[in-house]
Amino acid sequence: MNTQEFIRQKKRHKKWVMVTAYDTPTAEILDAAGVDFVLVGDSVGMVVLGYPTTTGVTMDEMIHHAKAVRRGTRRAKLIGDLPLSGITKGAAHALESAQRFIEEARCDAVKLEWGRKTPEILRKLVRYKIPVMGHVGLTPQTVDPKSGFKVRGKSAESALTIFKQAHFFEKHGAFAVLLECIPGPLSRVITKTLKVPTIGIGAGRFCDGQVLVFHDLVGLFTRFKPLHVKRYAEGRLIFEKAVSRFSKEVKNGKFPDKRHSFQMDPKEFSRWERLL
Ligand code: KIV
Repeated sequence: MNTQEFIRQKKRHKKWVMVTAYDTPTAEILDAAGVDFVLVGDSVGMVVLGYPTTTGVTMDEMIHHAKAVRRGTRRAKLIGDLPLSGITKGAAHALESAQRFIEEARCDAVKLEWGRKTPEILRKLVRYKIPVMGHVGLTPQTVDPKSGFKVRGKSAESALTIFKQAHFFEKHGAFAVLLECIPGPLSRVITKTLKVPTIGIGAGRFCDGQVLVFHDLVGLFTRFKPLHVKRYAEGRLIFEKAVSRFSKEVKNGKFPDKRHSFQMDPKEFSRWERLL
């Protein structure tokens, strides 16, 4: 992943599109739809595995899903999201996890949320030539249950902290910075002052690109709907309807009909009856 190329594209006002995926068919859909980046997010914990938050996701689970996504991604760049469990022991641990994404799942880059150990981890990953996308603002891995999943950067002090974190990522070699749930005016200034592109989620329209979680975008995750999520389909309703039609047709004998059943040559059938 070439940082200079990302900077050139930003100057040409390219808008990047990123969507999450956790399996092969979804990756194929995203690739066919022309997204630029497919993110194997640790959101897999909440939207696929049924965990209450993202913090319980293991590195093995991430690799399992990333490999499946790799099988369906040909054109888009593939990004593996470093989960909390893959970085807790510090920089050497994070490097090992990042190398697993690159070597085992053939990801093109990793994403790293801002946290206490980010400076040492980022420096290490960049020294080992691992392309890193930074992540600031609302960072679910270090969310304090008391403050919850709320917008960050609303006070001047917190806006300054986020601004500095985004610039830290750029200064130390990240090729892009993801801005999650921060006010539009703040993301506008961050986007303007960074050379590398910003990808926003709940960060307004001034970012260089946008990301959504696939299950939010297509209406498959319905436990709650954050304000910034726009549903482009009501997937859950569509699938529920399909399954209940199947169920009804099985019960009333309409399925399987002749079109969905295999036939046998009547002569072979009577020969078989005689054999029997
Ligand atoms: O894990 C994830 O899907 C993410 C998105 C919210 C960008 O980090």
